[in-house]
Amino acid sequence: MKITASAPGKVILFGEHAVVLGKPAIAVAVDRRVKVTIRKGKETGIINVKIPSLAVQGSINPDQGTIENDGHLKTGILHYIKGALQKTSIKRGMELEVSLDIPIGAGLGSSAAITVATLAAAARFNQQDITKEEIAETCHQVEVEVQGAASPLDTAISTYGGVIYLSKTKITPLQPARDLPLVVGYTPQPGNTGELVEGVGRKRNTYPDIINPILDSIENLTNEAREAIIQGDEKRIGELMNINQGLLDALGVNTWELSRLVYQARQAGALGSKLTGAGGGGSMIAYCPGRTREVLRELKNLENAFQVGISYKGVTYR
Ligand code: MEV
Repeated sequence: MKITASAPGKVILFGEHAVVLGKPAIAVAVDRRVKVTIRKGKETGIINVKIPSLAVQGSINPDQGTIENDGHLKTGILHYIKGALQKTSIKRGMELEVSLDIPIGAGLGSSAAITVATLAAAARFNQQDITKEEIAETCHQVEVEVQGAASPLDTAISTYGGVIYLSKTKITPLQPARDLPLVVGYTPQPGNTGELVEGVGRKRNTYPDIINPILDSIENLTNEAREAIIQGDEKRIGELMNINQGLLDALGVNTWELSRLVYQARQAGALGSKLTGAGGGGSMIAYCPGRTREVLRELKNLENAFQVGISYKGVTYR
């Protein structure tokens, strides 16, 4: 018996970090996915996990909450897998294989996608019915447990796909009037989401009168961007992304490498560009109607870059 579930990665268009502090955000599921396959394994209570593309082999004992082959960034993934497995009522021996075409630690939602696909596959393997709402909610809990703090955004977008506007816990799907031509540029240095989120919280505690208005501005620009996306107002979408980038820089999550890509993308004709996700390394996105090829070429000269499309397929069995 073999069950495969897959879930998309994501980019955040507007509102990362502010969303952890109760502000709205807009995210897009992208056409790059994580696939988790579960096969029957030995009835030892220990689940072997293979991630061939990252040369990771580990084992998880969900009852005891232990992981072997720990302590390396790449194996940080095993914590999310363990968390998802612990939320499943495991009735039989199993082993797990993960394949992914999303770079990890790059702000593109790999950990949420892995958590979502693992929970979906494990539930079905153990003949447990689970709804998308339950998957999104449970996986959000896993992210909180592993990272310390997390908004429901990443796990929601990975579960439902498409383009979503999230305000507090309310998820509203958006229908963009036009396509959203996006190029992702990613730096080799990974960002640690938990630490970056904590850093923003600390800054807010130290400078509440300065940081709170920044968070309010991010809220306002995200709400304005929602209208611009629905209306297909390309110029406004781009401008708002650029403003969001400046405010993320003020929150302390930007890096020199990301800035370089952000400015290079604008020079190559992107209407807007900003870091995406937690920052501190990781990725940026460029919104480039009519200029995708030029932007892609320029970013590839500096770092890794690829084009992404919207995936309207959330978590699915296949
Ligand atoms: C990470 O992809 C986005 C953050 O806003 C964290 C979160 O929403 O949980 C930085």
